[in-house]
Amino acid sequence: MLELADSGNGMRRVERYAIAPLPKDAVQEGAIAKTEVVEAAMREAWKLLDTRTRDVAMALPASSVITKKIMLPGSASEAEIETQINAEANQVASFPLGDVSLDYQILGPNAKNPAENDALLVLARRERVEERVALAEAAGLKTVIMDVDAFATLTAYEQMAFQLPDNGKGQVIAIVDIGANSTHVNVLLDNQMVYQREHALGGNTLTSEISRRFDLPLEEAEDTKRKGLLPDSYESEVLQPFLDSVAQEIGRALQLFFSATSFQRVDHILLAGGCAAIPGLDDVVHGKVQTSTLIANPFSKMAVSSHVKARQLASEAPALFVACGLALRRFDPA
Ligand SMILES: Nc1ncnc2c1ncn2[C@@H]1O[C@H](COP(=O)(O)OP(=O)(O)OP(=O)(O)O)[C@@H](O)[C@H]1O
Ligand SMILES: [Mg+2]
Repeated sequence: MLELADSGNGMRRVERYAIAPLPKDAVQEGAIAKTEVVEAAMREAWKLLDTRTRDVAMALPASSVITKKIMLPGSASEAEIETQINAEANQVASFPLGDVSLDYQILGPNAKNPAENDALLVLARRERVEERVALAEAAGLKTVIMDVDAFATLTAYEQMAFQLPDNGKGQVIAIVDIGANSTHVNVLLDNQMVYQREHALGGNTLTSEISRRFDLPLEEAEDTKRKGLLPDSYESEVLQPFLDSVAQEIGRALQLFFSATSFQRVDHILLAGGCAAIPGLDDVVHGKVQTSTLIANPFSKMAVSSHVKARQLASEAPALFVACGLALRRFDPA
């Protein structure tokens, strides 16, 4: 959980954040598998956060939503838009519209036909949305925004674009978010998502290997890994092979992107997610994939409140990437 504040002059401030562990099987394929466990983790994180705010923005995984680019006549009335949105939704939804939560966003005039607006239609099973809202409520929180993790990734990226040559304009950016069980690859060009895919790759593999090699229970292995308190042999015998395999998988994921699209190159890789906190991963990826590689820190332009330890934030920033994109939503003009 992450709280951002407005610090004046259009600047944001990292007010506070908290990270609570979630057991491996608590959320499975986008569905909340163990409600009580997730609720307890949310309560714990909120308590650690030590805030008065109970309003939250949450995300659905991209795999739980259907998105479609549509065109809406610029002159359409609200009622006409609604009719068209429903017709479009009917075409793509594999379940009755009564069971669907949907929303759309006008993106701007269509390049070929300026009388029409490009719009993005997003729909999800109502159940997926409601289970999250109910969960937050059970943990004492109020859901104000329900976003999609891939969109939040895009929002967080916008905080980082200034670090790239020419603000990333015209460049193909692959955001590789390496979590515990899964890795999300989102490829952007000029702030538009051009490709997204989920791969089974994550830090749990490293935790399991530590547990096996050093004969530690999984929880302890996880803790020691994060604190970096392992014997000397760890780096060469366990960590290095893991980093090599991650770099190799990223290389494969990009090959897959090239074969699935007409793109032939990626200009920058941004590493996000908890695993991007592993020192040296950027160098290993850069060496293997021969592409400029950066560790994602969406806070580098923000102020940091005195509640927050700046050094710890710097190392945990990649894990807060999606949370940052969500927290930024509250600054949207209403
Ligand atoms: N300092 C660190 N050193 C090494 N690994 C770390 C560190 N911090 C976090 N991790 C690893 O990052 C992973 C968690 O990343 P993240 O918080 O992005 O996952 P998640 O989004 O919850 O998982 P998923 O996307 O798979 O659902 C875990 O495997 C954790 O061990
Ligand atoms: Mg993740």
